[in-house]
Amino acid sequence: MIAAIRGTQDILPGVVERWQFVESTACRVFDQYGYAEIRTPIIEREELFAKGTGETTDIVQKEMYAFTDKGGERVTLRPEATPSIVRAFAEHSLEQAMAVPKLYLFGPMFRYERPQKGRYRQFHQLDVEVFGVEDASIDAEILDLAWTLVQELGIADAEMVVNSVGCPACRPAFAQALVAALGEDAARLCEDCQRRAVTNPLRIFDCKVAADQPIIDRLPHSVDYLCEPCRGHFDEVRRYLALYEIPYRLSHRLVRGLDYYRRTTFEVLARGLGAQNALVGGGRYDGLVKHLGGPDRAGIGFAAGIERLVLALPPRPEGTGARAEVFVAALGAPARQAAFVLVRELRRAGVSAQVEYEARSFKSQFKRADRLGAPLVFVLGDDEIARNEVTARDMAQGTQEAVARPQAVAYCLARRRR
Ligand code: HAM
Repeated sequence: MIAAIRGTQDILPGVVERWQFVESTACRVFDQYGYAEIRTPIIEREELFAKGTGETTDIVQKEMYAFTDKGGERVTLRPEATPSIVRAFAEHSLEQAMAVPKLYLFGPMFRYERPQKGRYRQFHQLDVEVFGVEDASIDAEILDLAWTLVQELGIADAEMVVNSVGCPACRPAFAQALVAALGEDAARLCEDCQRRAVTNPLRIFDCKVAADQPIIDRLPHSVDYLCEPCRGHFDEVRRYLALYEIPYRLSHRLVRGLDYYRRTTFEVLARGLGAQNALVGGGRYDGLVKHLGGPDRAGIGFAAGIERLVLALPPRPEGTGARAEVFVAALGAPARQAAFVLVRELRRAGVSAQVEYEARSFKSQFKRADRLGAPLVFVLGDDEIARNEVTARDMAQGTQEAVARPQAVAYCLARRRR
């Protein structure tokens, strides 16, 4: 047997219904907020992410499924959607077609991470992006949208965490303050943090190594180093959150692991999920569109991990996948032929109907009807054929009655309305 690749998953019937619930709920909510769907390729040029996600990120340094294709070009499976959507926005001049480009995307992403519960190498995101709006009202809409999505899914134990990481005007001073505050302690940090202290000191806040935590806890906070415009913007975002009555926690450690963030960053955490508890991550990325060769436009968005949303859903009865409203049981060649015709008629009338393909006993056909959860079985045998009838059996009541064959579909539809 050839098994699935480590870190990938088959989403089987019975569980896929939970995915469909997440996706259809997201589609509905995104539509209510005026977001349009976009689909971009899973494979892109490697440099899109090297430049977009950022050279100093773990994603680009360690996790990309990048390779040289048969034409000698460096390509990669996308590790995230934001640079792809930015590329598509610029490549197709979407701002000319849409007054305020508000987009969403569903799809698989690929990161070569160490798999564990809630962390996979192929995972799926619901991603949302808006371009060209600098006003804090759009930060508020994006945070509200993420929060509303989680609420609509019925995930009760969620927490919104918010921070501002400043902009290129104020961040260098904060990075310097971090290095200065570390002082001699820098040499006692883990190897990764020693590297971060040189390449990108803010990322030290991402460190999970226990021994580093007392040192990190003493470090200054980005919100205390914001320039005037960044401070004003963040205050306004917080005023909206209060207005919308969205509960949130300020976390100075929320710097996020991607290079493009400016100003607002946020996550929605699920308290019950263990180590991989971020359901949603996002923030503002003014400057990225220009950096990737597009016009100088602001950007903001988020992505939610579908696997994690599915894990965090309130428990519901697990299905077995396929179900049927009606099962047609038949015995004998003429009855079987009539059964296939009836099933086809039912399906074309919008009823989900199933039939036994192999010639089997009534007993085994009723067993299958049971497994499919069919509340109604139409029985066809020689007698029914002779009388041009079907026998309708109510599986819950255990009662049955004769129905004229031409009335069978109408009988089924009428039962629905009862
Ligand atoms: P991210 O924080 O890297 O941000 O990922 C967003 C979400 O994707 C995470 O909160 C998590 O739910 C899910 N996720 C990430 N990695 C994995 C994994 N290995 N297995 C399962 N789920 C995972 C981004 O990707 C940004 N592009 C978000 C964004 C959009 N920022 C602005 N616009």
